[in-house]
Order: sequence, then C-alpha cells, then structure tokens
Amino acid sequence: MNILVTGAAGFLGRRLIEALLLRGALTDRQGATQSISKIVAFDVVPLNGLDDPRVEVVCGDIADPQVLETLVTADVDSIFHLAAVVSSQAEQDFELGMRINFIATQQLLERIRKIGSCPKWVMTSSVAVFGGQLPAQVEDHHVWAPQSSYGTQKAMNDLLLADYSRRGFVDGRSLRMPTIVVRPGKPNLAASSFASGIIREPLNGQESVCPVPLDTRLWLMSPAQAIVNLIHGHELSAAQLAQGRVINMPGLSITVEQMIDALRRTAGDEVANRIRLEPNPAIERIVGSWPGSFTAAYAQQLGFTADHDFTDVIGQFIAEYPPQGR
Ligand SMILES: NC(=O)c1ccc[n+]([C@@H]2O[C@H](COP(=O)([O-])OP(=O)(O)OC[C@H]3O[C@@H](n4cnc5c(N)ncnc54)[C@H](O)[C@@H]3O)[C@@H](O)[C@H]2O)c1
Repeated sequence: MNILVTGAAGFLGRRLIEALLLRGALTDRQGATQSISKIVAFDVVPLNGLDDPRVEVVCGDIADPQVLETLVTADVDSIFHLAAVVSSQAEQDFELGMRINFIATQQLLERIRKIGSCPKWVMTSSVAVFGGQLPAQVEDHHVWAPQSSYGTQKAMNDLLLADYSRRGFVDGRSLRMPTIVVRPGKPNLAASSFASGIIREPLNGQESVCPVPLDTRLWLMSPAQAIVNLIHGHELSAAQLAQGRVINMPGLSITVEQMIDALRRTAGDEVANRIRLEPNPAIERIVGSWPGSFTAAYAQQLGFTADHDFTDVIGQFIAEYPPQGR
C-alpha cells in the first residue's frame, strides 16, 4: 500500500509514521490486509531521522495546488491528513489559518475527486468545533458552534469530508481529537499548549504558567492513545461508518487542578509547586469554550479507546522523555 501522511514532521505525524512502519500493514478499501510499501512523509519542514527505505520525505506547502498535483496520484491508497496550523496561530493570522487549515484540505479533496481514485482518508478534527452553551457532557449530535477560526476551519473540513465521502469521491473519516497531552519539546502556539506545559516544564526543573482557572475541565488523550485511534480509524470499513464519517473521540475528562494533583502525586511538591497561576483572558476564552467531556458513544461503538488515568499519562511521558534538571 502507498500511504501519504501530511504534517509528517509534526508531533502526531512522526509518531504515526513510526507506528505504521512497525505495524507494516494496513487494511485496504476492499478489506484485505496489505503490506505498506511506501509512506510519503509530506510537510513544509523535513521529517529527519527516520531511516527506512519505505519512507520518502517530501517537502512543500500543502496549500500550493502544484505541489498537490505531484503529491496526490492515483496510486495513493490511503491518506492521513494531519497538516495544520494550531489554534492560537489560526486565531492570530486569519489568512494563514484559512489557507492551511481549510483551503488546502478542500484542494486536496478536489484533487482526489478529479483523479477518481477514492482513497481511504483519515483526518484530525478537533473538539474546538464545539462552543457556546454546552452541557456537562456533549453528546454526539450536539450542534457545532465553534468560537475560534481554528474550530470553524475544522468544522468546515468535517462537513466537506462527509459530503465527499457520501458522494464516493473519498472514503473519509474525521476523528475529533481531544487535546493531546503530554507533548514533548517546547510550548507551541496552540491555545491548549499549557496543558502539556504544566506537566513537562515542572518535570524538567522549569517554571510553568497556567493561564486558565484551576476548575477548567479538559478533554485529553495521550499521544500513544491518539496513534492507536488514528490507525483504528483507518482500519474501519466504509460499512462500519454508516452512521457518519465524523467521530467524537473518547477521552479523559479532567480539571487542571486534578492534573496538577496527579503531577504532585507522581513527582512531589517541589515539582508541582513550579506551576504559577497567571490568567490569560485570550487563552481562557478559547479553551473555556471547548467541551470538557463527551459521551463519545459512536466512537466507543466503533471500538475507539481512551486513557483512563492521568497518572499513567504522566508516567508514559516520563518513561519516554526522562526529566532533565530536576
Ligand atoms: N495535538 C493536539 O492536541 C491536537 C488536538 C486536536 C487536533 N489536532 C490536529 O492534529 C493534527 C496534528 O497535530 P500536531 O499536534 O501533530 O500538530 P503539529 O503542529 O505538531 O504538526 C502539524 C504539522 O503540519 C505542518 N504544516 C503546517 N503548515 C504546513 C504547510 N503549509 N504545508 C505542509 N505542512 C504544513 C507543520 O510543519 C507541522 O509539522 C493537526 O491537524 C491538529 O489540528 C491536534
């Protein structure tokens, strides 16, 4: 099978490619298990350090139609479309967000329609499509009301993918991902960046700022669980998706205070005390508009899974990225 991964050099893209290489095979549209012969790792920055003959690294701008013409050919069996700019960046730069998060997706889908190859397609949507008056637990058919440009762009992609799938142009599935925690490395421009920062930075001996109230409830998923679900989403057949192509992922519902308590239990007071509360109204407005809990009934029926214990999520991070300078 030939696989295309966009956003390949990103947090999830790289992990996904590593997991696909390890797995070695995927289910094709006809339901047959096929070995993975090629993964095109596409991003605007190069994916470095993956030395495997099955990986072809391609760099370019996903919003450039000429790039898409060479990238998307009839022999691409499956696409994992992850390339995006994150929430605060899309809020700060409207044109950039529209170009990368929405127009590029539309152009990619159009390219597929014109080729007529109907590949499998897995896309990462977001809980940011919801907002406004929210119940304590959001049900699958809750009306979408994004309160940010990022959420609006993701919602538009979801609608488009559902229609392109209905018409048989693509065999799509859009997974509404919770906030993925703990992200390694440095803070990024996601409004939810602090959710990783308040764990990662204190573990590494640094102060971290929490910009939202302690009772803010978040819907989270670990990186390992996210990859399991992205691959599970691919493996489902079109027949299993009869109730819809856009799926709210299961997750772990937890308040910021409970996250800090879990850090305290895992790493002690000295580490947890490195978190400083410093309200940031812009972050609070965006993150506060996102739901903190979902029923995710459809996803569970389809066999998607969630983390159960935030202490385990912290443990996974520590095992993978042993703390420095504690
Ligand atoms: N990480 C999360 O908490 C989370 C939650 C919900 C949804 N998502 C979605 O999952 C996907 C992956 O998220 P991530 O955390 O890995 O993000 P990331 O920022 O680490 O990766 C996104 C990648 O897209 C690439 N990209 C940006 N502009 C591009 C362009 N013009 N052309 C080609 N590539 C470009 C970036 O270089 C980056 O490597 C995104 O669609 C994101 O919106 C992530």
